[in-house]
Amino acid sequence: MQSKSQNRRSDIDLPTLAVIGGTGAEGSGLALRWAAAGYPVLIGSRSRDKAKVAATELSSLLPGVGSIIGGDTNAGAAEAADVVILSVPYDSQSGIIEQIRAGCQGKAVVSVVVPLKPPRVSRVWRPPAGSAAEEAQLLLGEGARLVAAFQNISATHLKDLNHAVDCDILVTGDDTAAKETAIELALAAGMRGIDAGPLANSAVSEGLTAVLIGVNIRHKVKGSGIRVTGV
Ligand SMILES: NC(=O)c1ccc[n+]([C@@H]2O[C@H](COP(=O)([O-])OP(=O)(O)OC[C@H]3O[C@@H](n4cnc5c(N)ncnc54)[C@H](OP(=O)(O)O)[C@@H]3O)[C@@H](O)[C@H]2O)c1
Repeated sequence: MQSKSQNRRSDIDLPTLAVIGGTGAEGSGLALRWAAAGYPVLIGSRSRDKAKVAATELSSLLPGVGSIIGGDTNAGAAEAADVVILSVPYDSQSGIIEQIRAGCQGKAVVSVVVPLKPPRVSRVWRPPAGSAAEEAQLLLGEGARLVAAFQNISATHLKDLNHAVDCDILVTGDDTAAKETAIELALAAGMRGIDAGPLANSAVSEGLTAVLIGVNIRHKVKGSGIRVTGV
């Protein structure tokens, strides 16, 4: 992991992030790491009160710098942000996107979503659109610049800012600037983001999560990850 001083950047010009589903395991951990790196972060939830409570709790975990600037409804958080991170269960994705569609127009949207079909969560399952991220792009329309990233990061250790996450971030998307944004977010969270091609390739990065869940089960570990070598 990068040292904290390497991760942390000046908050001048850093975009405001809205983490939709930031009350959950994955979104809250990522939100905490980005806030610690200096990004202004908003927590989104179906409930404004729940978002505010989560924002307060996460703020208390920050090491004296960085800020979770507040909590709001998913729609309100998306509207107020420069970059939107979608971190909700796949089955709720389409309903949540209806609420945030307007707020995502003209913005980079980073999908963390993995399509899993319980109880067989260690078996790769692809939605009809090809991947959850491709489906999200269709639902949001061309005004939103979809990127898929962070699918292979286990939530287990994300809130421990001293824990080095042993995993690379595959970043897929059709918009170069949006992919660069996601790669910067990976670096800020202490990881290495790698441009892994067009959004269609998100079918593989999303599918890898099911593979890693199976590895976790078979090897009795909690946070197996992936590394791209030779880069
Ligand atoms: N957990 C991991 O280790 C991990 C790793 C990689 C990728 N992912 C992916 O990241 C996404 C988020 O994972 P997570 O573990 O953070 O999920 P989660 O904790 O189950 O849910 C995240 C948030 O989504 C909202 N939500 C939950 N169920 C919903 C429903 N039925 N309808 C609408 N909103 C609902 C909730 O927020 P409110 O109640 O506040 O609205 C919840 O706090 C998922 O797609 C997951 O596959 C997770």
